[in-house]
Amino acid sequence: MNQPIAFASAPLGHHLMGVDIAAGVSDAQFAAIDAAFNRYGVIVLRNQRLTPEQHIAFGRRFGPTERYGIASYLLPGHPEIFVVSNIIEDGKPIGMADAGRAWHSDMCYVTNPPRCSLLYALEVPRESNGEPLGDTCFASTQAAYDALPYDMKQRIEGLKVRNSYAASVERKARLKRDRGGEFSQEERQKVHEKFPDVLHPLVRTHPVTGRKCLYVSEGLSAAIDGLERSESDELIAELLAHMMKPEFVYRHRWCEGDLVMWDNCSSIHIAISDFSPEQRRRMHRTTILNESSAVPGVFA
Ligand code: OGA
Ligand code: MN
Repeated sequence: MNQPIAFASAPLGHHLMGVDIAAGVSDAQFAAIDAAFNRYGVIVLRNQRLTPEQHIAFGRRFGPTERYGIASYLLPGHPEIFVVSNIIEDGKPIGMADAGRAWHSDMCYVTNPPRCSLLYALEVPRESNGEPLGDTCFASTQAAYDALPYDMKQRIEGLKVRNSYAASVERKARLKRDRGGEFSQEERQKVHEKFPDVLHPLVRTHPVTGRKCLYVSEGLSAAIDGLERSESDELIAELLAHMMKPEFVYRHRWCEGDLVMWDNCSSIHIAISDFSPEQRRRMHRTTILNESSAVPGVFA
C-alpha cells in the first residue's frame, strides 16, 4: 500500500527526537514529553530498546497501569503488558491478533476509560521489498470537534453516547456465524455481565487540557441516548465520517523499536490489517489510567 505516512498539517502524531527511554528520562525531559503528549494526543518515540520493565516503568510515569481483561494475552510474568500479535506458539496465540480493526478509543466501554496506551513494536510485518505493513491510523478527536460547524456543536452539546462492548462482540459473532462458527447464549451472557453498557458524554472535555473531544468509537458506540434509532445511527455515522477526514488523520508506519503513545480522549485509532498470518507482528501495549480527575461515565 502506497499511502502518505502523514499529512504535513496533521494535528497529531508528533515525533519526539533525542529520547532514549532505556538510558533514563530526567524529570525535565519527562515534563516536555508529557506536555507534547497532552498537546498532540499521539506522540512517536523511535529507536527505543525497551525491556518489559522499562516499558512499564515509563508508562507508570503517566499514571497507574491497567490490566487488560483477557488473561491469555497478557505477557507471562508481566501482566501489565498486553500482547498484540498474530504469532502462534505451541498451538496457542501469544496475543490478540485482531486488536483494533475498527476506529476506536481503548476501553471506551468501561466507566473510567484509560488515559492513554503505549504500544511498542517488537516485530513488524513487511513486504518482500522491505516495506512495512500493519500501519496504525490515528484521528484527532479534538481537531475534528473544533472543525464542526457551529450548528452541529450546538446539536450535540450535552448528549450522551451508549458504549457497548457487547455490541462489538455481537458484531464479531455475526461475522463468525457468517463463516460457519457458533457464539453461544452462555458466551453472550458472560460478556453482558462482565461489561454492562455505559453512558459517556458524546463531547468529552479533556481532563488535562480542557479541550473538547468527540467520543465516538465505530461498532462500540451503539447509540446516542434519547434519540430515535435512525437519527442516532445517522448521527454516529456522520460524526465518524467527519473524524476520518484526512486532515485529522495521522498514519503511523511502524518500525521495530517504535513506541507510539496515544491519548484515549483526544484521539481514536484503527489497525490496518493488510498482512497475512505468516508475516509476524508482535507489539507490547501498556494501558494507563487517569489518576482520578476524569469524569467517569455511568452504567446505562
Ligand atoms: C491497541 C490497538 C492497533 C494496532 O493495541 O489498542 O488498537 O495497530 N492496536 O495494533
Ligand atoms: Mn486500540
